[in-house]
Amino acid sequence: MSGVSLGNVRPFIKWAGGKQALASDLLTRFPKRFDRYFEPFLGGGSVFLSLRPSNAVLADHNRWLLDTYRAVRWSWRRVVAELEALPNTRQDYLAIRARDPWSLDLAGRAAQFIYLNKTGFRGLFRVNRDGRFNVPYGAYDRRTHDPDQLRDVARALRGVTLRCGDFQSALAGVTPRDFVYLDPPYVKQGGHADFNRYTEDQFREQDHERLADTCRHLAKRGVRWLLSQSDTDLVRRLFDGFPMERIAARREINLNSRRRDVAELLIRNG
Ligand SMILES: C[S@@+](CC[C@H](N)C(=O)[O-])C[C@H]1O[C@@H](n2cnc3c(N)ncnc32)[C@H](O)[C@@H]1O
Repeated sequence: MSGVSLGNVRPFIKWAGGKQALASDLLTRFPKRFDRYFEPFLGGGSVFLSLRPSNAVLADHNRWLLDTYRAVRWSWRRVVAELEALPNTRQDYLAIRARDPWSLDLAGRAAQFIYLNKTGFRGLFRVNRDGRFNVPYGAYDRRTHDPDQLRDVARALRGVTLRCGDFQSALAGVTPRDFVYLDPPYVKQGGHADFNRYTEDQFREQDHERLADTCRHLAKRGVRWLLSQSDTDLVRRLFDGFPMERIAARREINLNSRRRDVAELLIRNG
């Protein structure tokens, strides 16, 4: 792998499907050597922040999330200053939630995102049809941020390419010398839990099919990848022929009142 690992940094946001608990396990399954690290479904970035490669292409479809990474990378101090000005009360939460993020500058928008993530109910990201954030207040008595952590994330992001968009555009330019880790929205197990509402657009069955096609195409080109998914019939069918490993995973965010372990599949080529 190019670059030296500079030590683990914790994610600065809570994210549905976050891989914090599994990250070190996942890393042992990554190839020993590669040029660039690609992560097209970045989310809370727990895997990237555990690996800390110096040469990486990171992407996500969620523009507000990507802008938050951009702001932290270029001006984490400004983001901290903006966060210091946002009080954690129900009334303030509702007023801050009502602000149009696209009317704010980059640092202001990032601070609003981090604030809502830390003070909103269970760190969920959910928007209505008009793209308005609509998660209720979480009433948590905790800090919204740690300046040292944001500084460390900014350092980890130095020299990294950030792309906002669909996973296919995120993979532009990938070569067989690179490595891709994919952690897409999960294929639903029960049908009612709405975890995959990370963006205005849902990740639908046709997107899962498109992703499987993309992985087959990468495999044909000799690009190495590892993908995390829930263990469902659809996933096993879509990735039929690739090595699969079943592991127990504890989801970080679960809408059910009690936590439950969900079996997860790790799928790879070669
Ligand atoms: C399971 S989460 C990734 C979690 C991440 N590994 C972590 O530890 O926090 C899936 C991510 O895919 C993103 N996403 C949804 N649809 C996408 C698409 N079409 N292309 C790229 N990213 C997408 C979501 O915004 C979400 O952040």
